[in-house]
Amino acid sequence: MTEIDTLNHRYGISGQVVFKEGPGGLVIVEVNNADANATITLQGGHLMSWAPRGSQPVIWLSKAAKIGPGKSIRGGVPVCWPWFGPHPEESSFPAHGFARTALWDVIASEATIGGDTLLVLRLVQNDVTRSRWPYSSQLTMHMTLGKKLGIDLVTRNTGDIPFTIGEALHTYFDVGDAREISIHGLSGCEYIDKVDGGIRKRQTGPVTFSAETDRIYINTAADCLIDDPILGRRIHVSKQGGRSTVVWNPWNEKAAKMGDLGDEGYLRMVCVESANAADNLAAIAPGDEHRLQVSYRIEPLPALHR
Ligand code: BG6
Repeated sequence: MTEIDTLNHRYGISGQVVFKEGPGGLVIVEVNNADANATITLQGGHLMSWAPRGSQPVIWLSKAAKIGPGKSIRGGVPVCWPWFGPHPEESSFPAHGFARTALWDVIASEATIGGDTLLVLRLVQNDVTRSRWPYSSQLTMHMTLGKKLGIDLVTRNTGDIPFTIGEALHTYFDVGDAREISIHGLSGCEYIDKVDGGIRKRQTGPVTFSAETDRIYINTAADCLIDDPILGRRIHVSKQGGRSTVVWNPWNEKAAKMGDLGDEGYLRMVCVESANAADNLAAIAPGDEHRLQVSYRIEPLPALHR
């Protein structure tokens, strides 16, 4: 039996959860239920697409994404863990940690009575991950795929010393035109402006985009709403257990240098990342667990905002 046969045998659900070989030879899971379809690759536990039935994709995946062993995928929902951004001491370690390129095992799949599909994945630890993260820990991700997309990232401290993590669900949302959207829910919050030397500023009003934007909003609790008048929809981003919100769009010049954003890709995406970063790192005591939970849904944009 091949690995894919074994996965289908153990975790496949006829017509609803199917394991396949995907782009770049990666193993992918295709999920199709009455309410949505989605694709996840086991490398990185990386959700690459999610679209509620009848709607165009909510999650953006770059047409120029490099998909293959060991590569981080531009778009979807990269999992940043156990640090966010550059490693605090080791500049040779990958930005945003190693979970987004490491392999994840499938632990469970289920078709719920309500019509959702559940998938549970667990980060595979090996000598490479242990050389970068010497703590005894377990990272599990629960995905609920349906009309809403829910992702719970659960870190358990299985050792006998405390540790502190940085993390993010670095979600790329699909938008009609980044120049036209507005993000609500962050007004009044303090942020670290990474495109202005890390100066701390305070947000007034909604976030809009006309240049490179790279901000860590700290101590955020409210839902973020991405209002998109071109697609006529509002994306709700709710989180629990995450105190930071990162808002990122590289804009044209940086995007051109990145090489995997595609032509004008920066106009079709915005990252609104639910995170624990900067001032909000999460300390986890031995035996404890910490949960970063997000839930995304869409609704038509109220007429007043069009
Ligand atoms: C964001 C960071 O979360 O991710 C940015 O705030 C960074 O500084 C961006 O450029 C993309 O990171 P990467 O490693 O996927 O290119």
